[in-house]
Amino acid sequence: MSKRNIYMDHSATTPVREEVVEAMLPFYRELYGNPSSVHALGRTVRRAVEEAREKTALALGAEPTEIYFTAGGTESNNITLRGAAKKRGKPGHIITSSIEHHAVLDVCSELAAEGHRVTFLPVDHYGRVNVNQLQAAITPDTFMFSIMAANNEIGTLQPLAEIGEVAREHQILFHTDAVQLVGQLPIDLKSLNVDFLSLSAHKFNGPKGIGALYMRKGAKVTPLYCGGGQERKLRPGTENVPGIVGLSLALELAVAEIEEKRKRLEALRTKMIKGLLAISETILNGHPEERLPNNVNVSFKHIEGEAILLGLDLEGIAASSGSACSSGSLDPSHVLSAIGLDHPTAHGSIRFSLGRGNTKEDVDYLLQVVPRVVDKLRRISPTYHA
Ligand SMILES: Cc1ncc(COP(=O)(O)O)c(C=O)c1O
Repeated sequence: MSKRNIYMDHSATTPVREEVVEAMLPFYRELYGNPSSVHALGRTVRRAVEEAREKTALALGAEPTEIYFTAGGTESNNITLRGAAKKRGKPGHIITSSIEHHAVLDVCSELAAEGHRVTFLPVDHYGRVNVNQLQAAITPDTFMFSIMAANNEIGTLQPLAEIGEVAREHQILFHTDAVQLVGQLPIDLKSLNVDFLSLSAHKFNGPKGIGALYMRKGAKVTPLYCGGGQERKLRPGTENVPGIVGLSLALELAVAEIEEKRKRLEALRTKMIKGLLAISETILNGHPEERLPNNVNVSFKHIEGEAILLGLDLEGIAASSGSACSSGSLDPSHVLSAIGLDHPTAHGSIRFSLGRGNTKEDVDYLLQVVPRVVDKLRRISPTYHA
């Protein structure tokens, strides 16, 4: 089989769809007005922003007034967590999980340094939060749960509906970082008790640097920034209009294709997992079924993930070891440690994340290349004895 170039790092970011680029371009060219301007050009652009808000709301089962455009997942998480703490105005208790993205974990650690108490719930071997443990951790001053919808490294899905029920019962705000879930699996905010949801366009074939925060009607946070009145003062600053238009179209298209894409990617994922687990001393990380349709995370014992990545890169395959944001660090990923992997096993982990463009031929190629790369590295591994 001749060399191919395969991108299997869609959880890091995705290519922007052609239709989305086309829809954004007029807002850089002729429709450059400021949506706050009263003239005709400004009003036209304002209409585009509000239409994008309606589309975004529709895709999530929300109301347009519940959608706020932000600079991405990181900002949505910060606005929610810091904003809720600021609104509270006195120390309180937050419950999160130990496998959150750093855009939640690090905010929680800072809030802890500022006097709040934070419980970082452990997860099971598959990366699932235990709802009974969550319930048991509640104290009278618990004001927020922040539990991610789907993990960015191992793809494990959390029981959002059950967590929402507990939140409702105890009148605690519930934030979910759904950056990896939105666009991969359907979500209906009318049927979930979620108060805040973060999403990011570049994970579903939209542009980078634009995201949204869903904030349920009636939920309130104190804004982090002062300035203009944009986004109902929650996120002041002139709107990223091309980004907003791109986000809403990318989301609309992703949601329209969600079932077809899910089936297709699940089939590819199943084939990949079967093929990779046929390599000796290889384990699957994350839940076997309750996982994102596009996520495959495996550990190849006795070898280093970074060396595997380089070997794959030479063969034209782009993947990731742990989360892209944390690579470069020598510590094993906090997620792989939390699910109980020992350091050497965690260091031999690779995340392959599928996307729209991947085909059966890509998977066939991958399953030819990976065993070869792993075998070559194991031959020079001091701990491997075939
Ligand atoms: C789960 C999760 N949350 C937050 C983020 C950050 O999103 P953004 O890059 O839009 O700031 C990411 C990005 O990798 C993510 O995977």
